[in-house]
Amino acid sequence: MKIGCPTEIKPQEFRVGMTPDAAREAVNHGHDVVIQKGAGAGAGFTDEDYTSAGAVIIDTPEEIFATADMIVKVKEPQAGERKMLREGQLLFTYLHLAPDPEQTKDLLESGCTAIAYETVTDDRGGLPLLAPMSEVAGRLAPQVGAWTLQKANGGRGVLMGGVPGVAPAKVVVIGGGVVGTHAAKIAAGMGADVTVLDRSLPRLKYLDDVFGGTFKNQYSTAGATAELVREADMVIGAVLIPGAAAPKLISRAQLSEMKPGAALVDVAIDQGGCFETSRATTHADPIYEVDGVMHYCVANMPGAVARTSTQALGNATLPFMLNLADKGWRQACEDDPHLLNGLNVHAGRLTYYAVGKALGLDVLSPNLALKAA
Ligand SMILES: NC(=O)c1ccc[n+]([C@@H]2O[C@H](COP(=O)([O-])OP(=O)(O)OC[C@H]3O[C@@H](n4cnc5c(N)ncnc54)[C@H](O)[C@@H]3O)[C@@H](O)[C@H]2O)c1
Repeated sequence: MKIGCPTEIKPQEFRVGMTPDAAREAVNHGHDVVIQKGAGAGAGFTDEDYTSAGAVIIDTPEEIFATADMIVKVKEPQAGERKMLREGQLLFTYLHLAPDPEQTKDLLESGCTAIAYETVTDDRGGLPLLAPMSEVAGRLAPQVGAWTLQKANGGRGVLMGGVPGVAPAKVVVIGGGVVGTHAAKIAAGMGADVTVLDRSLPRLKYLDDVFGGTFKNQYSTAGATAELVREADMVIGAVLIPGAAAPKLISRAQLSEMKPGAALVDVAIDQGGCFETSRATTHADPIYEVDGVMHYCVANMPGAVARTSTQALGNATLPFMLNLADKGWRQACEDDPHLLNGLNVHAGRLTYYAVGKALGLDVLSPNLALKAA
């Protein structure tokens, strides 16, 4: 198969769909890999890294889209890229179609087959191609929160770990899933006094068994949240209710009860945010203040550490990408129902029920799509 990886063109996106290591693996499996000139630069990979892995560097995205059997990317294809997709071509990337009717229409019109990272599943009910970015955002949250807490940035001027004789920062993490657990681990590693709130008792049991000595946990009620937030130097929002907007767990009125200069890091901002006063920000201008409380609400946090994020995503996508290339999408999806769950579009038909429901469009069962022309 000829696998093509164009440069990401969405603003502020520095990741790349294939690492040189992934390119090498694909070449070792007998495939041709074409990478757009400079595609890896944002993540610290040079064209030479790719050519020494056996890939061929191509100047323009047009050449890649025109010749590749499979396009491997990070972000959903932008309008110009969608025009270049063609019938029978395989697209493997994040899509997030449900809130994006325009992209959906273009993908359907292109006739391509599109497998979305975010809906590929695993045996434990997880989303293995979404989890690495939650891990990154979670681990980044205390780091950016610690920076926000610095006096020059408007923060309270509190050091995460304190020093001998001075108490550490109090960090509250709301939501103990992938983001929350990684955030709590890093915050505790920085020496902070950390409490994780969650509504799932099995999750709290897991956190207690595995991290009982590292950070505390508590059942998430409005009362418990209010009490902990009043005392907190930093609150990290990491809740998720699948398929729904994030619940607002801290109201504007509560800000006046918080310590002046405390930091709110709302990782759940990509689902609308879990604090009433959250609004999405960018890496160029990440923080703002409301009622004396500092807010960090960057919607694409992993972009700040594009190299780590690219490597983490590449590790997760590699086995699926190799299967798609080795077997073709039909056989790969027939052999792996979790990969079939990633199928969102095939030959002008939607094949993912939740997207169809969100956009009011008919859906062809993915199993029937496997058999369709
Ligand atoms: N900003 C970014 O760059 C970025 C990057 C990655 C993920 N995210 C977002 O971070 C959020 C968390 O993702 P995740 O992968 O950790 O999800 P997850 O499903 O692994 O964890 C979410 C947790 O929230 C808990 N929860 C739900 N309602 C709660 C409540 N009222 N109080 C306390 N806990 C509650 C759930 O029980 C679950 O344990 C999502 O919105 C995700 O989209 C943002």
